[in-house]
Amino acid sequence: MKKTTKFPDGFYWGGATAANQVEGAWEVGGKGISVSDVITVGTHQNPRRVSLDMSEQLYYPSHKASEHYDHYKEDIALFAEMGFKMYRFSISWVRIFPNGDEEKPNEEGLLFYDKIFEELKKYNIEPLVTISHNELPLHLAKKFNGWASRKMIDCFMKLCNVLFERYKDYVTYWIPFNEINNLSLPISGFVQGGIIADDMKTFGGGTDNAQLRFQALHHVLVAGAKAVQLGKSINPNFQFGSMTCHITLYPLTCKPEDIVLTQQEDLLRNCFCSDVQLKGEYPYFQEKYYQDNGIIIDITEEDKKLLKENLHDFYAFSYYMSVCRSSDPDADQTSGNIMGGARNPYLEESEWDWQIDPVGLRYTLNKVYDRYRVPVMITENGLGATDKFENGIIHDPYRIDYLRTHIEQMKEAINDGVELIAYTPWGCIDLVSVSTGEMKKRYGFIYVDADDNGEGTFNRYRKDSFNWYKKVIQSNGEDL
Ligand code: BG6
Repeated sequence: MKKTTKFPDGFYWGGATAANQVEGAWEVGGKGISVSDVITVGTHQNPRRVSLDMSEQLYYPSHKASEHYDHYKEDIALFAEMGFKMYRFSISWVRIFPNGDEEKPNEEGLLFYDKIFEELKKYNIEPLVTISHNELPLHLAKKFNGWASRKMIDCFMKLCNVLFERYKDYVTYWIPFNEINNLSLPISGFVQGGIIADDMKTFGGGTDNAQLRFQALHHVLVAGAKAVQLGKSINPNFQFGSMTCHITLYPLTCKPEDIVLTQQEDLLRNCFCSDVQLKGEYPYFQEKYYQDNGIIIDITEEDKKLLKENLHDFYAFSYYMSVCRSSDPDADQTSGNIMGGARNPYLEESEWDWQIDPVGLRYTLNKVYDRYRVPVMITENGLGATDKFENGIIHDPYRIDYLRTHIEQMKEAINDGVELIAYTPWGCIDLVSVSTGEMKKRYGFIYVDADDNGEGTFNRYRKDSFNWYKKVIQSNGEDL
């Protein structure tokens, strides 16, 4: 019998970006310097370098990014043309508090976001706002070693207070922290945690201090709970999302050792943070992990109370790929988003070696819904690929295939009973890649004519996937 399940009415089709990857205008409007502003361009083979004192010889992709700061009207009009119901973007912390520890916000920065909200309202596009997405003030990283210090909580709350008060009539959905679980891995210590290792030279490089990193993560979790508390006191209708970078893990074989290895890592990497934010306390496995690794976290009774009483409302996650875990040290390895793993022989890989696994999306949707029973949003998904640009025309069937097969699996998950309410694929307009800093790793429906060195006209062009996605939205996911 043919399935009749449809996407629910009011499903939020849309797209997602982050300020540091799309806005550019890094010195405009009183903006300060964020951690992302001191990370150079790299490639898949050559890691991005971090230079705290910027060098004129090097290119820092966030400085120009996609020049959305100047093109925002045109960009939002293009999103509206595709029929977006939701747009996920981040508010750059350093546009609002350039150093992070000022008393008063920078009005010029707020005026920029006022315009974005007005523009979205004009087209009836629901904003989904990420408050912190790799835009931590560099000053706070230098002053406090970032989130390693509890003092960061107050700085973050000042930002939240300004945003909640100013935008309380524009925004319902907030994500306090992008991919909060990334801090459980050394690679995100600087870009997400603002932790500066003495010998840090490259993105994710330098000696890792797990004690500091997990203490930082604890402060982030407390800040998230405080954001919920403050937000709901300002507008009880606010909805807060716990967001995880979900790297779906499979055992490479059915050998029990592979299965336990996979389970353990899945709990630590994928479940820990959302368990705290959606269940209200540290899970048993995390406490054991800390004991086994000699990590002692300063958790006060007040922290515990805050976490318990201020749960997030929905589960948001990014999904790009899956990898395997194997107890065999010689298993063939592949790379990936924040982590790689053993190569799955049944999957194809992107040009950047991320394994493409649409069925894994259905599996993941069921897994997270079963665990939390709250509405679910897929707030990032997509294929980073090189596009061929010829006379303003971009044929990108590979991107359409990737998205189509993932949307098909979303439908299956809805048919399974998962309460999926939103889909905002990543980089709906081409933007700078986090892992490599390249522009040529493109995700967009909209092509931005700029290269890895920030050269180009920055003109916008509709790719084939633009018209395809428009049709998908128009038919509420029926015409794929
Ligand atoms: C997610 C981040 O982890 O992956 C995004 O939230 C990022 O900011 C996305 O851009 C894709 O990764 P990359 O390295 O291809 O940009």
